[in-house]
Amino acid sequence: MKKIQLAPSILSADFLRLESEIESVRSVADWLHIDVMDGHYVPNITFGPDVVKKLKPCGIPLDVHLMISEPSRWVERFISSGAEILTIHVEADLHIHRTLSLIKELGAKAGVSLNPSTPVGLLENIIDITDLVLVMSVNPGFGGQKFIPRCLDKISAIREMAEKRNPALVIEVDGGIDPSTAGAVCQAGADMLVAGNAIFGKTDRIQAAKDILESALKNI
Ligand code: DX5
Ligand code: ZN
Repeated sequence: MKKIQLAPSILSADFLRLESEIESVRSVADWLHIDVMDGHYVPNITFGPDVVKKLKPCGIPLDVHLMISEPSRWVERFISSGAEILTIHVEADLHIHRTLSLIKELGAKAGVSLNPSTPVGLLENIIDITDLVLVMSVNPGFGGQKFIPRCLDKISAIREMAEKRNPALVIEVDGGIDPSTAGAVCQAGADMLVAGNAIFGKTDRIQAAKDILESALKNI
């Protein structure tokens, strides 16, 4: 059976107690999802490379999602700070092929993200050099938003493209993932689930993660 993995998003964690918040998800986190926002590409500001550097010793692979304009200017800093997976937005970079190649050259996994309104066709000429596609199932900027079901068809279309061109491609879904939506996204072809509010918004994080994975596995 296909493996479904989980990337808790620290955007919904208590920033004052980040260390213990990370400990509370360690046993269920395949990756730790870190949302970097610049107040320009998205209407919110979060963390920079120095925070990534502080998180690095936790030992969980850092899945860094750059929601910033001109991401190519920052790729080197985030990778040297400890990003193992670095995802940039296709809408934010005029030379996405060059930036994805740079990420790989610098030794990280290269991810590309699509906003809800962005067509899947933009992946056509880069899917073979991409390790991961991050499908946004909310408009980026904030945790705790409502899942946009239209992304399901996009996930299926990306999985179909990947089967022909890049079978190892990871499809990650981000936004509004909880036990009521995880099943449908995995059925459509996702294999990595980001969850912020549905994990850090609950007191029992382990149970919350189990509930998401159980619902995901029921549908594949
Ligand atoms: C939104 C971020 C997400 C966010 C998801 O812009 O990219 O990673 O943390 O949060 P939930 O799971 O609460 O929708
Ligand atoms: Zn994210």
